[in-house]
Amino acid sequence: MSNVLLWFPRVALDDCNIEGFEIKKGWHANIDSTCIHYDPALYKDPMQFNPSRFDDMQKPYSYIPFGSGLRTCLGINMAKVTMLVFLHRLTSGYEWTVDDPDPSLEKKAHIPRLRSGCPITLTVLQDE
Ligand code: HEM
Repeated sequence: MSNVLLWFPRVALDDCNIEGFEIKKGWHANIDSTCIHYDPALYKDPMQFNPSRFDDMQKPYSYIPFGSGLRTCLGINMAKVTMLVFLHRLTSGYEWTVDDPDPSLEKKAHIPRLRSGCPITLTVLQDE
């Protein structure tokens, strides 16, 4: 899995100061969501695949794959339901064989991804 959108842009409508950083009206600021999602100050062992880390409450603005604020993704609920159905079908309808279990990550164009590409073979489960 990886981020769909690496960063998203904003334009400052007025001069402002955010935590000591002066930002002038008209400047373009890119919110680097990848950097936030892999920040060890926010996530322990961020390169480790650990879905259970999301069992605990996240700090505000630490998990923003759909952006945040007024321009947050309009398709967030549709995207989540689509992923849920997709994963449900894959996990309940097929037997999985992991062809290369190497869990190591590499960075490609700034995005961490599984070095092996995680090839798997899916076999349709027959109805009993
Ligand atoms: C996994 C799937 C998706 C991801 C990760 C994603 C992520 C994002 C992100 C990061 C933004 C920018 C938010 C911001 O600027 O703060 C965005 C905007 C948007 N997304 Fe998605 N999106 C997904 C699926 C969808 C789907 C399925 C739809 C529509 C059916 C959709 C419609 C939109 C629209 C219309 C905007 C612009 C909202 C605005 O500027 O007011 N997205 N999305």
